[in-house]
Amino acid sequence: MNNSLKTLYDEHTIIQNALEIAKNAKNLIDKNNEEYELIISELIRFFRVYSDQYHHHKEEEILFPEMAKKNELLADGILKEMFENHEYFREILRAIEADFEEQKYQEASQKIDEYAEALLDHIAVENEELFQSAYTLFTDDELENIYYRFMDLDRDLGETKKKDFTDLLETLTINV
Ligand SMILES: [Fe+2]
Ligand SMILES: [Fe+2]
Repeated sequence: MNNSLKTLYDEHTIIQNALEIAKNAKNLIDKNNEEYELIISELIRFFRVYSDQYHHHKEEEILFPEMAKKNELLADGILKEMFENHEYFREILRAIEADFEEQKYQEASQKIDEYAEALLDHIAVENEELFQSAYTLFTDDELENIYYRFMDLDRDLGETKKKDFTDLLETLTINV
């Protein structure tokens, strides 16, 4: 598999793992609120920084505009939908954060379930449809160029910080 798309597939896998932990964390509510607070505050940071800044920005600033240049129909169709999804993820995360700060844990966890469901669907569309189109649209050289731009983005945001987020997920276990 080409490196550029592999980067996005790999990030999807890590985001899927984080969503799984986020969904399971609701079992802690009223049983161990301290643990719930700890896990959710870490996960909110993960979704804001890793999922949004590292991942969605690769798609929005690099992959999607390059795909749109190649095919206008994609730009008005699936790519537009993907951009709108990313905006929705940002909005619902803000709402989750607000509920969480007010210690409305049931409300927060309901929204986390909605967020997880929508983001998992979004990832499925990208994995199964969008990235397949990317393979057919770009030459190997173009894909390589996209890969280098992805690496630049990671470097700008911090490669160590990115690795810290994946390590963090391994430390988050839910014992109920
Ligand atoms: Fe996306
Ligand atoms: Fe994605």
